[in-house]
Amino acid sequence: MCGIVGAVAERNVTGIILEGLKRLEYRGYDSAGLAVINEQGLLQRRRAQGKVAEVEQRLVDQPMKGFLGVAHTRWATHGVPSEANAHPHLSSDELALVHNGIIENYQELKKSLQAAGYLFTSETDTEVVAHLIHQQYQQTADLTQAVHQCLERLEGAYALAVIHQQTPDRLVCARKGSPLVIGVGMGEYFCASDPLALLQVTDRFIYLEEGDLATLTLQNHQILDASGQPVERPISQWQHGHQAAEKGDYKHFMLKEIYEQPAVLAATLEGRLSATRVLPQALGTAAMELLPQVRQVQIIACGTSYHAGMVARYWIERLAGIPCQVEVASEYRYREVVVTEQTLFVTLSQSGETADTLAALRFAKTAGYLASLAICNVPGSSLVRESDLSLMTQAGPEIGVASTKAFTTQLTALLLFTLALRRAGHQQPDQEDPLEAELVQALRGLPRIAEQTLKLDEAIQELSEDFAEKHHALFLGRGSHFPIALEGALKLKEISYIHAEAYPAGELKHGPLALVDKEMPVIAVAPKDDLVDKLKSNLQEVRARGGELYVFADPYTLLEPEEGMKVIHLPEVNEVLAPIIYTLPLQLLSYHVALIKGTDVDQPRNLAKSVTVE
Ligand code: G6P
Repeated sequence: MCGIVGAVAERNVTGIILEGLKRLEYRGYDSAGLAVINEQGLLQRRRAQGKVAEVEQRLVDQPMKGFLGVAHTRWATHGVPSEANAHPHLSSDELALVHNGIIENYQELKKSLQAAGYLFTSETDTEVVAHLIHQQYQQTADLTQAVHQCLERLEGAYALAVIHQQTPDRLVCARKGSPLVIGVGMGEYFCASDPLALLQVTDRFIYLEEGDLATLTLQNHQILDASGQPVERPISQWQHGHQAAEKGDYKHFMLKEIYEQPAVLAATLEGRLSATRVLPQALGTAAMELLPQVRQVQIIACGTSYHAGMVARYWIERLAGIPCQVEVASEYRYREVVVTEQTLFVTLSQSGETADTLAALRFAKTAGYLASLAICNVPGSSLVRESDLSLMTQAGPEIGVASTKAFTTQLTALLLFTLALRRAGHQQPDQEDPLEAELVQALRGLPRIAEQTLKLDEAIQELSEDFAEKHHALFLGRGSHFPIALEGALKLKEISYIHAEAYPAGELKHGPLALVDKEMPVIAVAPKDDLVDKLKSNLQEVRARGGELYVFADPYTLLEPEEGMKVIHLPEVNEVLAPIIYTLPLQLLSYHVALIKGTDVDQPRNLAKSVTVE
């Protein structure tokens, strides 16, 4: 999704903000551009449709230098992907603005600006903001003040950064509904929609809060909060290391992230388990008081995170005996919900910035829930800051648009949460719980089993050759593996563009069986559990219709390869934890199919890593 970078320094910032854009490429975008105030004090801009490399080429053809600049990658919302619609947008050739988010009242603002003589050169909602700030600046001659006055008139969501030729010493930026961080350098400042964009210049960040407006100059920064009062925000040190955001020897970020799973699963468990139980402190002291009061759980998420929530529902109801509902945020936020007493509201999100999930949380805060818990991968994110409790996954930065390690670490964190709920509901604090002890033991072995599972990579690669010519695929699973089938189908469609659907295998004969023939590969997830015999019958239904089966199975299921059925055996794993492990071969399968098809694995077309607009 759209990315912002800005810089004010005593050195040329063109290369810095361009590098920032390259680091944001993973978020998904369709055009890019940058603008600087050059050494003569004039505003210059280069933009292009397509990749950042196109803008880089323009800079080779027509170089520009400056100590103050803003840059942007755009993911089209209002207006087609084109150079004219690419940011930065200028006003009167003296002000440049980059913006993430959506301005809902742009049409009425546009009319009044047109009446005031402003000419529009794009179809975007953003351009009104550039002209509006310019108009205010004419009256105040103070850029911060002009931005502040403009923001009061905007409806919608934004993160923005703006520069003006007449104030070549300052970069003004603001956020409401879209993330923005300030990068703190030595005698220089930066801003970006994601700290990853700035790691080449700093590892110290200030995470702006909702409604903040910041003015950055060479020597200092000033932040005004939503009410216009000066505030101090803490400076945080980047904790993830620099290599986390680089591909290393891997061909793609996605592959690297798949292979990081044993390590990040271990990191997510670290310090949270004793020999026989989940440590009560794992969720923080506030949780210890809160969890015993929970009578119901409502989980909200989008995309892959939603699938993690679906798995958790099976766990929470089975292990903690507490009713649990799961819903996609974009539906939940517009539904009339009935909140039952003592319900804990749980959001799941890799980024912590997904617009629908955030909006759902904000609604939930007024809807009578017991409290809110965010299970998230980004510590300073809006979701974490705005929730009462948080449980961090330790996946490290995830760059591939198709989520992999974030999903399996979410599942791991959700299982910890479930066990904490179980203890809070049923156990005396000191009582031993044999099932919890068994699962804790199994969790300790999880990274090792993940490692063994990844050794199946070559066999899965071979399997993937069968898929390259296919246009459709069907994924089947039962129980807590139905969401894993959904996640497998999502991965395949996201990165290989093969149409894929997932069904609970018991539903096969209620519709999808009509689609089964030898052109429709059917992928089944078959761990050893109570439902495996039923699943085997479902697989027979597929075979009887000439369907080609690809089964990921526990050896104890006794499913063996035969005519029309390829079987890959996975290492033995505790049945409760199996959804985490059975995800891995499906990730690898999608990856290899996408490789054969030659698609852009890390940045699939039309998709964005973090969907910060509705
Ligand atoms: C986008 C990404 C998905 C992700 C979803 C939810 O669609 O492409 O990979 O699962 O957003 O993102 P979140 O950051 O809230 O988990």
